[in-house]
Amino acid sequence: MRYNIMPAIDSYFITTPIYYVNDVPHLGHAYTTIVCDSLARFMRLDGKEVMFLTGTDEHGQKVEKSARSAGETPSDFTDRVSQRFRDLTAKLGISNDDFIRTTEQRHIKACQAIWTALVKSGDIYLGSYAGWYSVRDEAFFAEGELINGEFGERVAPSGASIEWVEEPSYFFRLSRWQQPLLDFYEKHPHFILPETRRNEVVSFVKGGLQDLSVSRTSFRWGVPVPCDNNHIMYVWLDALTNYLTATGYPEPLSVSFQRFWPATVHVVGKDILRFHAVYWPAFLMSAGITPPERVFAHGWWTVEGQKMSKSLHNVVEPFDLVDKFGLDQVRYFLLREVPFGSDGNFSETALIHRINSDLANDLGNLAQRVFSMIHRNCEAALPAPSTYIDSDNALLGHAHKLLPQIRDSMEQQASHEALEKLWALVRAANAYVDHQAPWSLKKTNPARMNTVLYVLAESLRHIAILIQPFMPTAAGKLLDQLAVPLEARAFDSLGKNNSLTAGRIMPKPEGIFPRFVEGNVSGDSQTL
Ligand code: MSP
Repeated sequence: MRYNIMPAIDSYFITTPIYYVNDVPHLGHAYTTIVCDSLARFMRLDGKEVMFLTGTDEHGQKVEKSARSAGETPSDFTDRVSQRFRDLTAKLGISNDDFIRTTEQRHIKACQAIWTALVKSGDIYLGSYAGWYSVRDEAFFAEGELINGEFGERVAPSGASIEWVEEPSYFFRLSRWQQPLLDFYEKHPHFILPETRRNEVVSFVKGGLQDLSVSRTSFRWGVPVPCDNNHIMYVWLDALTNYLTATGYPEPLSVSFQRFWPATVHVVGKDILRFHAVYWPAFLMSAGITPPERVFAHGWWTVEGQKMSKSLHNVVEPFDLVDKFGLDQVRYFLLREVPFGSDGNFSETALIHRINSDLANDLGNLAQRVFSMIHRNCEAALPAPSTYIDSDNALLGHAHKLLPQIRDSMEQQASHEALEKLWALVRAANAYVDHQAPWSLKKTNPARMNTVLYVLAESLRHIAILIQPFMPTAAGKLLDQLAVPLEARAFDSLGKNNSLTAGRIMPKPEGIFPRFVEGNVSGDSQTL
């Protein structure tokens, strides 16, 4: 096996699945991309060198069929729909470093190189496939895996219809990789997360692996197999290779490959875990390339308790959602509502509840109270603190301890947990304001009022710096209001050396998280 020469110590390579262009983007796509974005932003602010990759999966029978039914050539169709996904990344404020399309030349070259490596390792042979195929899943199924559909017909485990396929095909000797895969899972206990998913994969592999059909001859929309133009590569071998393409593979000396491979984490939905946790490491090991460090499988969103589907007319469009509720609000909800890895239920009621309670009431009010008191009572200049008492030290101590705790959550892709930890500080700060009642100190003890307001502003600085990965726009506004310069917003500025300087003039306060009122967005409630 070829290991990297340059160990990727401080590098962090995170990927989303590449999205099929047979359909326009929906909530599920937005979700994975937002989670990866918060992780990528966190790691950058924490001083890592990050590569964040997303893109579109454009080959295969499903896309070819969709192009045909749209009356377009596959190439025009993929250009058009892929652009919708690129537009989505802009709409969601995604900080991806690359956007890959599997129809690009660099990718076709990488696919053909990995194919050649698999041939060299003796794992590819010509045979013929006769069996079930689901176009929607782009996957082959053995008889025993099929289930009964709504009308008693045999369908794929996902419920997708299947067709009988018989054609010449190249096979990958997956059976040979059963034991090496089991050894690999054992040696890398955190390769598959969450734990329950890992157990599912391990028992699937223990059940025995069949060789995998990796080429098709009955349609043309794909990457030609090197040295045999009658075949195109199986779309999943093609798609998975995108993660390597983006690092410059097959150039052995590519700087990105040296720096970023193996990938730190592939974030995927639970439905595509088998491809990433079984086929992908087997292909890579066979090609002599180190497998990624982790595959994290997240759950699925239902909508108001039902599966999201076109036929139920309940597909949640992320563009509309952001227009109606605001980008940071949608990001916060998706990241906070469901433990990452579990299934979740989307409802506008739950989203509005989060906006009004966590954002407007908890954080919005805290910021508004502090900023307007400083503005009104201190002529907009940050007051100087005097002696700290226990409650001041407790709040500041809480703020100072947060980064390692949040880092711990983010290293396990637990953004919901990171946000819970952050909100514990927001709530502690609100309890502190209520208890200290700085508004009543103006006449009786102005020095104490100054200390309290300073402690609150400094706590808000921590909160604002730490929420940047999750809600970049709102965090930016909070930091502007605190007059924190751009160069002092990374996590290494959280230390005491970068505490706010008293006397600093703070801009006129503005509401950051308005309450959501049906039919109208109002900032009214954010008053003292
Ligand atoms: N093209 C493949 C991935 C190839 S990666 C090398 C694919 N594309 S997809 O567009 O169908 O799905 C992309 C992702 O969206 C998957 O991770 C899938 O789990 C996710 N989701 C689709 N519907 C979803 C929900 N309702 N909820 C959450 N995620 C969902 O599979």
